[in-house]
Amino acid sequence: MTLSPQDAAKKAAAEAACKHVRDGTIVGLGTGSTADFAVRHLGERVKEGLRIRGVPTSLKTERLAREVGIPLVDLNEVEAIDVTIDGADEVDPKLDLIKGLGGALLREKIVASLTARQVIVVDPSKIVPKLGTRSPLPVEVLPFGWAVVERRLRKEGHHPTLRQKEGKPVLTDNGNLVLDVRFPEGIADAARLERDLNNVPGVVENGLFLGMTWRVVVGEADGRVREIVRG
Ligand code: A5P
Repeated sequence: MTLSPQDAAKKAAAEAACKHVRDGTIVGLGTGSTADFAVRHLGERVKEGLRIRGVPTSLKTERLAREVGIPLVDLNEVEAIDVTIDGADEVDPKLDLIKGLGGALLREKIVASLTARQVIVVDPSKIVPKLGTRSPLPVEVLPFGWAVVERRLRKEGHHPTLRQKEGKPVLTDNGNLVLDVRFPEGIADAARLERDLNNVPGVVENGLFLGMTWRVVVGEADGRVREIVRG
């Protein structure tokens, strides 16, 4: 199968990131088209004898992991996760992230919070000078009173839109809704925004991942990769 240049870049990043996975460890399995390449690659390494237990960050990733033969473990049964390989929608110079365009931000953030080494895999289009410039910020909200949250965010000067597909609200794996919040000028103070958003009753979690990244692996279409380590 011939891959598009962007998919070739994603695959290169994902496969290179798998070298950070050691035998006998617990591995967080990210969600999205880039993380999928890592899950498939880890499945091949498991067939070759690598012993790992995976913690999936979404139902979709759980299905894929089972399909490729990665043994899974319930998050409730692990104290810590050694390494997680996950994608991102934006990566800024501090290696802070926006995640959640695939709708898995809540489980991804819980898994990231337990992870010693969070490895982010991206193609070059995800690298931005400032968060919010390329992607909206996904905010997961309870269905109960979601419009109250939307109105409150608007009053606070934000630009939220309920995520829909084919005219119907998109539900996350947790049965919640997503408000995609646009920042036409980019996000000025991500730490403050994260706190403020999570203080709104009805907000379950937001897609800002601040200070959680260990390193970012950027793939190129020709198969080259570079790693950016947090300074
Ligand atoms: C899933 O909710 C997201 O956080 C993904 O990790 C992110 O959207 C990146 O996905 P792609 O690798 O498909 O761009």
